[in-house]
Amino acid sequence: MRHHGSEPAGDEGGGLRAVGRARRARRCPLRHVPRGRDRVRLHDAAEPARAPPRGRRRDQHGRRGAAGRAPHGRVRGAEGRVPLVGLHHPRDPGARPRGGRAGPESDRHGARRGRGGARARAPASAGRRRRARPHTPVHARRRGPPRRVPRPRERDLCDFCTWGARRRWTSVKKSEGVLLRVEDVSVWFGGVRALSGVTLDAPAGEVTGLIGPNGAGKTTLFDVVTGLQPPGEGRVLLEDADVTATAPHTRSRLGIARTFQRLEVFGTLSVAENVLVAAEMRRGWSRERLDARAVAREAVERVGLSEVADVRVDRLPTGRTRLVELARALATRPRLLLLDEPSSGLTEVETLGLAQLLQLLRELAASGLGVLLVEHDMSLVMGASDRVHVLELGRVIATGTPADVQADEGVRAAYLGDRRLSAPARAVRAPAPEAAPVLELRDVRAAYGPIEVLHGVSLSVPAREVTALLGPNGAGKSTTMKVAAGRLVPTGGDLLLCGRRVNGVGADVLARAGVRSVPEGRGVFPNLTVVEHLRMATHAGTRFTDIEERAFGRFPRLRERRSQVVGTLSGGEQQMLAVARVLSTDPALLLLDEISMGLAPVLVDELYEAVRQAADEGVSILIVEQFAAEVLALADRAAIMLNGRVQRVGSPAEIADELASAYLAGAAG
Ligand SMILES: Nc1ncnc2c1ncn2[C@@H]1O[C@H](COP(=O)(O)OP(=O)(O)OP(=O)(O)O)[C@@H](O)[C@H]1O
Ligand SMILES: [Mg+2]
Repeated sequence: MRHHGSEPAGDEGGGLRAVGRARRARRCPLRHVPRGRDRVRLHDAAEPARAPPRGRRRDQHGRRGAAGRAPHGRVRGAEGRVPLVGLHHPRDPGARPRGGRAGPESDRHGARRGRGGARARAPASAGRRRRARPHTPVHARRRGPPRRVPRPRERDLCDFCTWGARRRWTSVKKSEGVLLRVEDVSVWFGGVRALSGVTLDAPAGEVTGLIGPNGAGKTTLFDVVTGLQPPGEGRVLLEDADVTATAPHTRSRLGIARTFQRLEVFGTLSVAENVLVAAEMRRGWSRERLDARAVAREAVERVGLSEVADVRVDRLPTGRTRLVELARALATRPRLLLLDEPSSGLTEVETLGLAQLLQLLRELAASGLGVLLVEHDMSLVMGASDRVHVLELGRVIATGTPADVQADEGVRAAYLGDRRLSAPARAVRAPAPEAAPVLELRDVRAAYGPIEVLHGVSLSVPAREVTALLGPNGAGKSTTMKVAAGRLVPTGGDLLLCGRRVNGVGADVLARAGVRSVPEGRGVFPNLTVVEHLRMATHAGTRFTDIEERAFGRFPRLRERRSQVVGTLSGGEQQMLAVARVLSTDPALLLLDEISMGLAPVLVDELYEAVRQAADEGVSILIVEQFAAEVLALADRAAIMLNGRVQRVGSPAEIADELASAYLAGAAG
């Protein structure tokens, strides 16, 4: 695509070329409507006609040529300004020879104007104004300007392009002031008001935290900033340029990168390939001479995934997959980085790594990167952020330094709760009567295809007790849960339920026997509504009204969303549903895999209390959790898992002492 005015095709002489150049100098070189008083008539009697575009078009008969035969026998597009004498075909005085090429003195406009009728038939009139081309802003163009195009002078650009062009032609530009500004943004989903007049900013060179209860609108705000969700009202400014209507991929080119709360990776590609996709895209659009592989390698190293660079992403645990997304975002070399719950699903070891990574991001921030961080892990968000915005029910309820926000009464009531201030209270219970364990795994082995993941796991879950299963990512905890729920048949060893061997009986049979699980990743159906999920839970024999009453009693937010399809619920709301579904159905054994993932702190408190209460009522529980300290506070026993084996079982106090060294051993192994 040529953006700059073309030289006249014919040899009309240096004088005409000079006029053309003079006029071009006053036009936006990106073919925009010229600014204000510079608006010129592109064709008038005194002016040379514009040159044809490079590629010649075919006429209505499929012939190539700059000019063709008009329906009424006239030469198309000439409009009388160019002498046509001698060009007509001998058998048709009004036409050029068939298939003939446009000679130097022939019609130079035919190809451009040869489409037709109306214009071709219009009488040639000196001084007739040609319509200005429609404005096609930089961000709507498919490709950048062609190579070998001289940099346009800024005064030749229209207002919109001034910003875009500066971005393109100058690779390094330190931004001053606010990088991102969201002004009065409101978003409605039918009757649900997800955002309501939200105004906030994220300066370059700072980490800005964004926290709030589940369903507060944080992810929706990210969608608005990245262009995935058009706002009903308000606007988004990137360095003072309004990008509200800009397409998502163009915003990405302009320097906005993000990670997703619900992972969006290519599962069948390796870690390195996932990141390479982003690096290649960056190379494609940036016009920089980048070695995409080197950029991808650097990003993978930066998030500490070098050792699994060649592993398929769908073989990685959730926590590490989040780091893949982060590496992918970094590979685009963004100026604004949006992170949606990056620590969710990470155990302590990786969370520590992430804290180091955020430290690195802060270093990047010091060199100009802006980071907007949504996170429910308070140690991370409060430790990393310069400023924090708090959203509740789609409105900003507080903004300030981490210390200010933590001290804010409204924020504590709506979001933080008192959890971080005091250890969760532990009910004193009578010791469980001696009986056969409800669940027992004896030397269990399990594999995904040819890869064995569990190499002889032995573990028991006594009746009416909470057993916590801890260990670093990739230790095999979720696979153990799958085996226990009957979703993965062990390749060796025994699975016993109340003393009876149940290897391979199927998840449905175990569910009817009272085994309920909240799997990693929630296991909800995105196209069914909340109520439909609860109705499905009646398969276990509990009445629907009872299930509904308990679920909505525990999570009132679900009552408000009862008819909403679950795929459109916020991450935390989906988690609430997954937990409500099992807690409301009189379980005998609960298998809970990372139930706190994506939940606001105040809600995690409530959830742990519900788990504790269920145990007090006689339910046996096996729980895998990200937050070791919290889960040890509510557990009766705990086990540490490493590399597909249970290494140690003991009381929570004993395990707490050994946890750090065990995790470090796991990380080293
Ligand atoms: N497409 C949609 N249709 C209907 N409602 C929606 C849609 N997307 C989001 N919502 C609703 O908008 C509200 C805000 O959702 P959002 O995902 O932004 O919350 P969030 O702050 O990210 O929460 P969480 O911390 O749980 O991830 C929620 O109540 C959600 O149910
Ligand atoms: Mg969210």
